[in-house]
Amino acid sequence: MPVRQTLPARRLSVAPMLDWTDRHYRYMARQISRHAWLYTEMIHAGAIIHGQAERFLGKDESENPVALQLGGSNPADLAKAAAIAAGWGYDEINLNCGCPSPRVQKGAFGACLMNEVDLVADCLNAMQEAAPDCAVTVKHRIGIDRQTEYQTVCDFVGTLADKTACRTYIVHARNAWLEGLSPKENRDVPPLKYDYVYRLKQDFPQLEIIINGGIKTNAEIAEHLQHVDGVMIGREAYHNPMLMQSWDRLFYGERLPETDFNTLIHTLYHYMQRSLAADPGLTIRHMLRHYLGLLHGRNHARVWRQMLSDATLLQSNRPELILEAWEKVSAGV
Ligand SMILES: Cc1cc2nc3c(=O)[nH]c(=O)nc-3n(C[C@H](O)[C@H](O)[C@H](O)COP(=O)(O)O)c2cc1C
Repeated sequence: MPVRQTLPARRLSVAPMLDWTDRHYRYMARQISRHAWLYTEMIHAGAIIHGQAERFLGKDESENPVALQLGGSNPADLAKAAAIAAGWGYDEINLNCGCPSPRVQKGAFGACLMNEVDLVADCLNAMQEAAPDCAVTVKHRIGIDRQTEYQTVCDFVGTLADKTACRTYIVHARNAWLEGLSPKENRDVPPLKYDYVYRLKQDFPQLEIIINGGIKTNAEIAEHLQHVDGVMIGREAYHNPMLMQSWDRLFYGERLPETDFNTLIHTLYHYMQRSLAADPGLTIRHMLRHYLGLLHGRNHARVWRQMLSDATLLQSNRPELILEAWEKVSAGV
C-alpha cells in the first residue's frame, strides 16, 4: 500500500481541539511556527460526506502541514471523507480514538474504538486506500476505564502496526473513563503515564510515536523528545500561542528570525480584512476570540483581552480593532 514518505517531521504539533483549532486559529498558529503540524477540530465523516465541504474543510494554503481529524467508525464513510479531504490539500488524515464524550460514545466512535481494534484497522485501511497520498494516523489514549496495564495500549498499537500501513501513533498519555467523568475532567483526572508512551517507542522503534497530555513548556518538550519522536501540545498552545514562537529555532533548526509581535499583529489584521471580504457571514469575533491569549503572561495582557472581547467594540466589526488594541498595549510588550 503506497504511503507518502516526504512529509516533514512531526516533532511538534498542535492538538485537534473542538471549537478551538478552526481555520482562524490555525492561520495564526502558522504565522508563529512555520514547521509545527496543525490539526483540525474533530469532524465527523458524515458531516463531510453530507455537509458543505467548504464549511468543514476550507483552509488557508499557508496552513500546511495540516491534518484533518476525522470522527467515525464506518470504514466506507471514513474512506469517502478521507478522499474528499485529500482533494482539499490535507497532508494527513487522523482517526480519533481518544474522545470520551457521551455524544461520541453514542455514535460508537472516539475512545470506545480502543476496544475494537479490528474495526479500527479496517477504518485505517479504508482511509489509506481512499487517500493514498496522505499519511493516515491515529490519536488514542493508553486505555479506557479500568484498563490500567501497559499491555492494553501495547496490543492496540501492535495490532494496528501489523494490520495497517499506519506508522504514526499520537498517544494522549492517560486513560479515558467513559462513565462518571465529563470530557473536560477526562483531560485532567485520569493520571498521566508518560512512561507507557516511552515504552511504546522502545517496543516499536520503527513507528513514529507522538506524546500528548499536560505538556506546557519548551523544557518539558525537550525532555520528552529524548524518548519519543514528537510532542503534541493542546491547551497551552491555545491559551499561550506565543509558546510556539521559538519552536522552529529550538526544535527544527530554523535559522530565520522568529516571528515578532508587530509583524504578527499586522499579518493578522490583513488576514481579517481578507476573510471578512470573502465571507459575509464572518465577524471579527470569530477570529479575535482565538487571539486573546497572544499576550499571555506579558504586560497589559488584560487590556488586550478586554479590548478584543468588548461587546460594543466587536459590534463595529472593524478589523482595525486589533491594531488599536495593539497600539494601546505595545509599549509594554
Ligand atoms: C476544547 C478542547 C477540545 C478538544 N477536542 C478534541 C478533538 O476534537 N479531538 C481530539 O482528538 N482531542 C480533542 N481534545 C483533546 C486534545 O487534543 C488533547 O489530547 C488534550 O487536551 C490533552 O493535551 P493538552 O494537555 O496538551 O491539552 C480537545 C481538548 C480541548 C481542551
